Amino acid sequence: MRDWQASRRGVLAGMGGLSLTACAGAPAVLPVGGPVAGGNTSLDAIARRGGRRFGTAVAWNEAGTGMSLSNPDYAALVRSECGIIVPENEMKWQALRPSPDAYDFSAMDEIARWALAHAMELRAHVLLWHRPEWFPDWLNSYDFGANPVREAERLLVDHIATVTARYGDQIASWDVVNEAIDHQRRAPIETSLSRAMGNPEAVIDLAFHAARERLPDAQLVYNDYMSWEPAHAGHCADVLRLLEGMKKRGVPCDALGIQSHIEIFEIDPATGVGPYDEAGWRRFLDDVTGMGYRLLITEFDVKDAALPGDIALRDAKVADYTRRYFDLMLEYDDHLDDILAWGMVDASNWLQYFEPAARPDGLEVRGTPYDSKYRTKPMRDAIAAALQA
Ligand code: XIL
Repeated sequence: MRDWQASRRGVLAGMGGLSLTACAGAPAVLPVGGPVAGGNTSLDAIARRGGRRFGTAVAWNEAGTGMSLSNPDYAALVRSECGIIVPENEMKWQALRPSPDAYDFSAMDEIARWALAHAMELRAHVLLWHRPEWFPDWLNSYDFGANPVREAERLLVDHIATVTARYGDQIASWDVVNEAIDHQRRAPIETSLSRAMGNPEAVIDLAFHAARERLPDAQLVYNDYMSWEPAHAGHCADVLRLLEGMKKRGVPCDALGIQSHIEIFEIDPATGVGPYDEAGWRRFLDDVTGMGYRLLITEFDVKDAALPGDIALRDAKVADYTRRYFDLMLEYDDHLDDILAWGMVDASNWLQYFEPAARPDGLEVRGTPYDSKYRTKPMRDAIAAALQA
């Protein structure tokens, strides 16, 4: 058990602004990580043998659809396989910040209460997704007034202080900044905040310092989508530069969240799956861990666009690619913390509507451990086998 996980054990019972009594009809607290239907041991139970947890992104909506915990089928699957959950969108500024001076915690509170009610760990995503397309409109066009530096700092620190005050007792690992690099331009992304404060580093650094001040014991994470495919080499180099810069400047970032939206956009004849740069990826992970950063897999799923439509064949290849990825990542056993999928069921996984992931034949992307009828797929066995090995 990692130190920061052990130190978290006492806090599930009580939580800042929320309580179990507020959760009408909350089920009894259940042990996590037991057997799942069909006699399989849960992915979380297997992951725990290695001192980490397995979990997934979840959502909240009133309609009870998709990845929402109000969807009884999805909630049951999460309970049977997972020991940790993360909000897909409910903690982002677009969800929490309807206006400059208002907060809307309604959906995020539902997720936090559900986690408490089911003794499920929760991780935070994300205090700042530093991209204009994921800012609320009002923030992109915000008038920072006569002293833009001070006003931008006030807005950012107020947001971080408010969100961490609400969930800080319940959450041990926080994505502080997400995707701060433009992988095409090979440069840090500018936003209204960075223009007001002078440069993107000022925003990133302040976010981490503000988070550390409020969360002295939490794991603070920089999260990004650099990956092991050769096309990501430049992005990996840029993330390394960012992490090096933060180290030099004494920015309190503890870990790199490796989103792990891995992709099969072409077929490598040598393996029959997508090309991946094993040596380059190891060098990257060595460099990251060599600087003292821990690693997490925060958003695992697989894009299958280059695979044939045939389901049995496709699922086998996706599982093969998954196994290769997890085997390599688990070589970093001593540095690797929790592992989360970005959804457990194909139908509700974001790749169905994320345009670059679309298959040329228009078929559903099969990038998660369970199919759209909630049946396990070979990918689930591949993850279990890798964790077990
Ligand atoms: C995605 C959600 O899954 C979508 O529903 C939303 O429309 C856009 O964001 N990297 C991240 C996640 O860090 O927050 C993204 O989630 C997926 C890519």
